[in-house]
Amino acid sequence: MKKESWGSRTGLILAMAGNAVGLGNFLRFPVQAVQNGGGAFILPYLICFLLMGIPLLFTEWSIGRFGGKLGNHSTPYILDSMSTKWYWKYIGVFGIFTNIAVMAYYTYIESWTFMYVIHSVIGTFSGLGKEEISQFFDQYVLFQGADFGIPLFPVLVYVGVLGLNVYILSTGLGGIEKVAKIGMPLLILFGVILAVRGWTMGSDFASEAFPDANAWDGINFLWTPQYSSLADPKVWLAAAGQIFFTLSVGMGSIQCYASYLKENEDIALNSVTAGFTNELVEVLLGSAIVIPIAAGFLGLDWVLQNAGFGMAFQTMPYLFQQWGPMIGAIAGVCWFGLLFFAGITSSLAMGTPWMGFMKDEFGWGKVKGAVSFGLVSLVMGLPTVLFFQYGYFDEYDYWAGTVSLVIFAFLETLLFTWIFGMNRGWEELNRGADIKIPSAYKWIMKYVTPVLLFLVLIAAFVTPQGNDWNAAISGLFSGDGWTLDNSSLISKLTFADLQAQVAADPNQTAYL
Ligand code: PHE
Ligand code: NA
Repeated sequence: MKKESWGSRTGLILAMAGNAVGLGNFLRFPVQAVQNGGGAFILPYLICFLLMGIPLLFTEWSIGRFGGKLGNHSTPYILDSMSTKWYWKYIGVFGIFTNIAVMAYYTYIESWTFMYVIHSVIGTFSGLGKEEISQFFDQYVLFQGADFGIPLFPVLVYVGVLGLNVYILSTGLGGIEKVAKIGMPLLILFGVILAVRGWTMGSDFASEAFPDANAWDGINFLWTPQYSSLADPKVWLAAAGQIFFTLSVGMGSIQCYASYLKENEDIALNSVTAGFTNELVEVLLGSAIVIPIAAGFLGLDWVLQNAGFGMAFQTMPYLFQQWGPMIGAIAGVCWFGLLFFAGITSSLAMGTPWMGFMKDEFGWGKVKGAVSFGLVSLVMGLPTVLFFQYGYFDEYDYWAGTVSLVIFAFLETLLFTWIFGMNRGWEELNRGADIKIPSAYKWIMKYVTPVLLFLVLIAAFVTPQGNDWNAAISGLFSGDGWTLDNSSLISKLTFADLQAQVAADPNQTAYL
């Protein structure tokens, strides 16, 4: 049988860019940027991209293509083949589970975007006031459909969207490539349309209630660098976390895609191209839609106080209506359609590691692999869907989408640069390369990246109270010790965070 591989270089790049470009670019990035001081966030973010993002892309593409040469398509088998120790296989399995846990909540948001496209088309939001549109979302996620007839319908939509993912996955690489070839250009088209709107709005929509509203305030806030943030570990951690999530590193999904490359096919230029595509979409389009449009109507102060999911699903549909029903509907389709394509090209990427593992381990074919992935994701996903209001969603995002990525990325970096060896690794990376990678990267990958990843990990363990590092450090020097925040990994692992929650809620309503 002929080895399965990508149909064309364009297909490969679009699939890899589709993997990376996701909800993270449009929903997570703007919120992170706003919460971490706008222009204060950008510099640490770009430095993290260069010193951790790019090296991790190099590492994961190399690991993947190396594994594919031996006929392996999942991290348990690939990592195992790179060392002599037994435990690497299990570290690889840990990566597979991260995919499923992220898939569980990611597909849920994807299903919202799907429904919101339909609601934009059929005009559900036209004529509704701000409060009503915002209530619509609340009732959707809380299953309280008294006014809109919603209960349990979102669960069906979720299962349907999961089913669509399973179907596409069952058609193999060809199906994934096709979705990327259609979805990525449309996503960029929709994004550009909305971004142009964001850039040209100015203060046209300032109102009596928001006389200072100006879209340019949003853009300037993001793009005026503030150097003071360079000394704040909190901003660095948020920047590093965003880089991991947005590039899809630390889960084994890039390795799986790369394992379908041919032995001497370029990875140096392809990996950088896919990575930069993600960054362009993130910093140019991701920052040019929600924030400027919301600032253009409601003012920057409003944006600073309300950054979150709600901006995308509650504020945007309302604001689009202000452009009239026709343009409002078009803008809604562009926005939620963009989110849907961004989401599905990424969730497909989360399915392939599991399928690769089932193939490597049990010889399962695509249909069996895809269906079993769907079932496992459903079992993991239902709690986030049904218990959304109790914060399950955030727990998943914390453990899978934040902590696990860093642990996995740190371990695979050690494996590649120190155990497999940087000299062999460098050779692997450069075989068939279409560009010359600056040799400084050999040194960065071996020393700088692992040290930075280790620091990020340590910081997650000991996050100080209120995430206020400067206060904690001066407290430490003046002999007050170090107070952990409930969000620190140590507090989470010792359940101190739960105890604090119970103590703060004597009736324990949070658990009913
Ligand atoms: N990079 C994707 C995003 O930005 C998320 C993702 C993570 C996709 C891991 C695949 C694997 O939304
Ligand atoms: Na991304």
